[in-house]
Amino acid sequence: MVALSSVLGFVALRLLLSHVVTESFTQATLFGHDSTSQPEHLEKRASYGSGAPYWVESIRRQAGLIPYQTNASYVLYRNVKDYGAKGDGVTDDTAAINLAISDGNRCGAGCDSQTITPAFVYVPAGTYLISTPIVMYYYTEFHGDANDLPIIKATPGFKGIALVDSDVYYPGGGGSNWYANQNNFYRKVRNFVIDITAMPIKSNTACIHWQVAQATSLQNIVMNMLVGDKTTGNKQQGIFMDNGSGGWMEDLIFNGGNIAFFSGNQQFTSRNLTFNNCNTAIFQNWNWVWAYKSLSINHRGIGIDMTQGGNVITTGSLIVQDGVFTNTQVGIMTTFSSNSTPVSAGSLVIDNVDFTGTKVAVQYPNGTVILPGGSKVAAWVSRIQQTVGAPPKPSVLLTPTGTFWERSKPQYEGVPVASFISAKSNGAVGDGVTDDTAALQALFNKVTTNQIVYIDHGAYVVSSTITIPKNIRITGEMWPMIMVSGNSGSAFLDQTHPQPVFRVGEPGDVGSVEMTDIVFETLGSAPGAIILQWNMAGTTPGDAGMWDVHWRIGGTAGTKLQSDKCTKTPLVSHGASNGCVGAFLLFHLTATGSVMMVNNWGWVSDHELDITNHNQIDIYNGRGALIETQHSVWMYGTAFEHSMLYNYQIANAKNVYMSVLQSETAYMQDNPNALTPFPPQAAWNDPTFSNCFIPTCYKTLAMRIYNSTYVLNYGAGFYSFFDNYDTGCLLTHNCQENIVSVEQSEGIYMYALNTVASINMVNVDLTAIVPQAANLNGFYTRFKEESESGVALSFDGTTSFLNAPTIINSDQLE
Ligand SMILES: *[C@@H]1O[C@H](CO)[C@@H](O)[C@H](O)[C@H]1NC(C)=O
Ligand SMILES: *[C@@H]1O[C@H](CO)[C@@H](O)[C@H](O)[C@H]1NC(C)=O
Ligand SMILES: *[C@@H]1O[C@H](CO)[C@@H](O)[C@H](O)[C@H]1NC(C)=O
Ligand SMILES: *[C@@H]1O[C@H](CO)[C@@H](O)[C@H](O)[C@H]1NC(C)=O
Ligand SMILES: *[C@@H]1O[C@H](CO)[C@@H](O)[C@H](O)[C@H]1NC(C)=O
Repeated sequence: MVALSSVLGFVALRLLLSHVVTESFTQATLFGHDSTSQPEHLEKRASYGSGAPYWVESIRRQAGLIPYQTNASYVLYRNVKDYGAKGDGVTDDTAAINLAISDGNRCGAGCDSQTITPAFVYVPAGTYLISTPIVMYYYTEFHGDANDLPIIKATPGFKGIALVDSDVYYPGGGGSNWYANQNNFYRKVRNFVIDITAMPIKSNTACIHWQVAQATSLQNIVMNMLVGDKTTGNKQQGIFMDNGSGGWMEDLIFNGGNIAFFSGNQQFTSRNLTFNNCNTAIFQNWNWVWAYKSLSINHRGIGIDMTQGGNVITTGSLIVQDGVFTNTQVGIMTTFSSNSTPVSAGSLVIDNVDFTGTKVAVQYPNGTVILPGGSKVAAWVSRIQQTVGAPPKPSVLLTPTGTFWERSKPQYEGVPVASFISAKSNGAVGDGVTDDTAALQALFNKVTTNQIVYIDHGAYVVSSTITIPKNIRITGEMWPMIMVSGNSGSAFLDQTHPQPVFRVGEPGDVGSVEMTDIVFETLGSAPGAIILQWNMAGTTPGDAGMWDVHWRIGGTAGTKLQSDKCTKTPLVSHGASNGCVGAFLLFHLTATGSVMMVNNWGWVSDHELDITNHNQIDIYNGRGALIETQHSVWMYGTAFEHSMLYNYQIANAKNVYMSVLQSETAYMQDNPNALTPFPPQAAWNDPTFSNCFIPTCYKTLAMRIYNSTYVLNYGAGFYSFFDNYDTGCLLTHNCQENIVSVEQSEGIYMYALNTVASINMVNVDLTAIVPQAANLNGFYTRFKEESESGVALSFDGTTSFLNAPTIINSDQLE
């Protein structure tokens, strides 16, 4: 999340002249391979239509009283048909579907955020006609039948921004929304066909308005639009994304339309987007960094248009990886040149993309071809405007055809409902008070390999280590919360003897483990908790994985780390308040472990989501993600924010694939600084900050890479927005001295690194080698600090653009 926000390109163009606050650094090199493939067993699992009805529709619902809620009649699960929707293709179902979503006094206009009114809105197969938008309240899962996708169809006279709207604009055109775009967390839309083909071709309506931040996802959605070239006046859109701070989306198909995906967000990872017969598949309105993994763009017009802003480019950086462009007129249209500004804006990394079926891979709007099509492009980087050398991609990370392994979030489409074993039916209480450690452990021990553990919505208190055996699948209902106990008697209180809370496998175990839709929190301070420790390696890539599993430390109901006692106090010099400490470490991948991480947000709250003041808060959490694998890891769409020592540390590791990473430095630092209240421990390879002389040096390292090899990072957004909550340092770009530290490592490849307000972007062996000043990026961004009163203060930073990119590769690291 970000308590700060950006203004997107469209609006930005009006601001004129630059307020550059983000720097970007693109390293060159790569090589390539073929298009995507999945091993046989994964394909089988992903297949639909086994004949069993979709379990989600018939599983027993026993969420009961929502934890930390008082309304006993509030219901979590809503089948739209119970609210009067017909799904017969004739009846207007708008009101019924919207009632299913809004019922129960949920978090709508004026609410900002709330975690105690979640809703799981289920849509059975059928065709649902709608005439105005379906409004996605905060904390909604909008879930269609995965075996027979329900169709949401616009009437010819449909009025509104989009059929599915994630963030309603207040009327009047002032650009303000129900939810601050960069705080629009916790929502999912999956398994739908969204159809606007009955509307006039000139209708400027999108299938989905997706203006979201972290812990959000779109999955398995087909968007049907009318096919028609520019002469038809086609204005139909698939996704309209104006801004936000995301995020993750996968398995989307866009058919027809003018701009199929109008795309703009700070940072994002998307995977397996397919475009058929669109005039422009992706219009990149603005961004800081975006990874498009496994794109498939078929027929017509332009694949990706990143020309917004002309010579003053609004796109920060794009990574296009493992994709296929077929029969497009132009694969990618760019305005990046030696004259464009800011100097690093418009960075484009092409990695293993097949342009065989297309004449032009990259081109200027005036028709000059920069990179011809007709072949597969192994590696090409726009900041150098050339094909570049390739890093060695460890084969363990790659499919037989040379793409990075990937796997869709499991939905268990064909699994009979009887195979799901409920936590609440097996003695767990989930009321946020009862200790459920023994009940959960017994359940995990008892399930067989053809069963799936189903954690009903609730808050499950855990006070000592739970071991997750191998060959197990665990899925949650609307993010049940695992509450790490900070009560006396808990095993998680001593930071000199940290203990795992969920311990996945024993060191050396090999087997399959799937975890989906779970949130980990602490109940009070648990400074000795390693919340999730992963020792297991999958039998095959993607076989051990977690999708939509998040950490949320403080800032919400039930955590006892809220704004009533942890509100920031920047005006007094202080240490770490004992009552506002989080955990030791959020995620630990050990040497023998291997995991596929997809859409995982490790958030140490920077502000309150439930108490209505929504104040900024100080929560002191030791560490974010520690990756020590000697085996392999794939990280898609991960973010770790606001820990004290580091957000990501890769230590003693190898074979690390990371798509877009996102982090933010803890806002209160250096009051106190990174060393308080978790002094570095040598046994944990913590950074010691021994190279520091100035206060802004002792700050959260966004990423530290220590004693590691073969680390491939495709895109990162690492932000330092504050110095003890003061944003004045954004103007001078020095909120922090160092943000990425690479030590005693080799074979480290980073592409499209974007940082905010760190003097140095990358240090190698404690020496700064990539200064931000040489790598300025732009996108005309305005930062706002949300003050406690809700009044926005804005700051515009200006700077000049200096020279070209610096390259970091293994040679320089030796
Ligand atoms: C987000 O985008 C919309 C649509 O262009 C714009 O009106 C709004 O001002 C933007 N919001 C922020 C906070 O930048
Ligand atoms: C409690 O939930 C019921 C059922 O959803 C709803 O009708 C009612 O308005 C809610 N009451 C309050 C006080 O929010
Ligand atoms: C891509 O998405 C489609 C559905 O949109 C799905 O059928 C296919 O299996 C997905 N492929 C991969 C590699 O995830
Ligand atoms: C097209 O635009 C590029 C980038 O601005 C420029 O370098 C090139 O000279 C232009 N070509 C023509 C034919 O105008
Ligand atoms: C570096 O990592 C290797 C494992 O790759 C380990 O054996 C070695 O002990 C580590 N060295 C240090 C100094 O931590």
